[in-house]
Amino acid sequence: MNDLFEAAKDAFFKAYAPYSTFKVGAAVRAPSGAIYAGANVENAAYPLGNCAEASAIAAMIAAGERWVSEAAIVADGDRLCTPCGGCRQRLAEFAEPNLKIHLYSPQAHRKTLTLADLLPYSFDLSDNERAHQMTKDAMTAAAVIRQSYCGDAPKVGIILGSGLGRFAESIEEAGAFDYVDLPGFPRPSVEGHSGRLVLGKIEGLPIACFQGRVHLYEGKTAAASMILIQTLCDLGCKTLVVTNAAGSLRSDVGPGSLVLIEDHINLLGQNPLTGPDTARRFVDMSEAYCSKLRAKAHQIATREGVGLANGVYLATPGPSFETPAEIRAFKGLGADLVGMSTVPEVIAARHAGLSVMGFSIVTNLAAGMSSGALSHQETLSEAAVAGKELERLLRAFFKELAGHG
Ligand code: HPA
Repeated sequence: MNDLFEAAKDAFFKAYAPYSTFKVGAAVRAPSGAIYAGANVENAAYPLGNCAEASAIAAMIAAGERWVSEAAIVADGDRLCTPCGGCRQRLAEFAEPNLKIHLYSPQAHRKTLTLADLLPYSFDLSDNERAHQMTKDAMTAAAVIRQSYCGDAPKVGIILGSGLGRFAESIEEAGAFDYVDLPGFPRPSVEGHSGRLVLGKIEGLPIACFQGRVHLYEGKTAAASMILIQTLCDLGCKTLVVTNAAGSLRSDVGPGSLVLIEDHINLLGQNPLTGPDTARRFVDMSEAYCSKLRAKAHQIATREGVGLANGVYLATPGPSFETPAEIRAFKGLGADLVGMSTVPEVIAARHAGLSVMGFSIVTNLAAGMSSGALSHQETLSEAAVAGKELERLLRAFFKELAGHG
């Protein structure tokens, strides 16, 4: 590795940086073992300057090589120098996300990062077209929204589940968009899911409210949720609240109960991150539902006198309800709730860096736990009753968030 450092250091001393006086040297190693070095070359016309990494890559290409297996950067100053956004993309063109990039001072102080650590969004010709298209659609959707909605940018996004769509009607200063008018947005086809995005304020907090979501049982993929989440991010949201109607696997948490989701089990057989965005697909899910938000939700629920249980939500693709044998199996897996939604959105939100809080409204005891048959109509009517309690809790929550700016 020393040879790579030496080559980068040599280039560092030769760099041409009379304007910034910030010299940078870079060296890349190709799989052949050959090392190509480059220095930054500044120009009075600032954008015409070259970065050291770009120069090293150009030298490699001119030598007929096309792959970087290791990279080193040397720069002076208080902090080690990482490649600029443009050079991260340049490196992504010729290296795997696990490319090791060693950052040095001329005195050989070193830190090693990977390209994936540095690269927020990779561009890759082979399998990222869908990701690109989606990101483009989300940016266009956000632009459409910003163009005709002049209110404050939303701080919290909320996805309303079966029977909860009426919450959006109490939003003040509202602007509404049908999903059909937003590029790339899926069209829900289930009763109780209207397919509208409503922006406005609740208790002074700017929010974006998705009235309706898509489900796998409508023939959509888990990835269809990504656009909703990406649009929220583009609009500036940092927090996502998901709500759903669910069956309960606990007889002590009956119909009408409100449950805070503490974790989930994904039995959908799909993940929204499959395929695109190779550099960032390995998302940590060890705290999918933010513990701080959960603690706050309990605090507010106690203060407001709203009953709030905790539970693990298990997602199945549906659309048929479960068999009693499946429910017994799910109990063994550690599930408290069962439903057909939510999990793709939560994965997409964690991928996007949003904090997530989730609530289930129990509409029925799960299959085999009571005498009656299960129906979607029952889901809708039960959700409407317990939905009022959830509304009360969310209002108090949003009021508190608005108070904290
Ligand atoms: N199973 C799956 N999804 C549901 C249920 C259920 O019992 N109740 C409401 N959504």
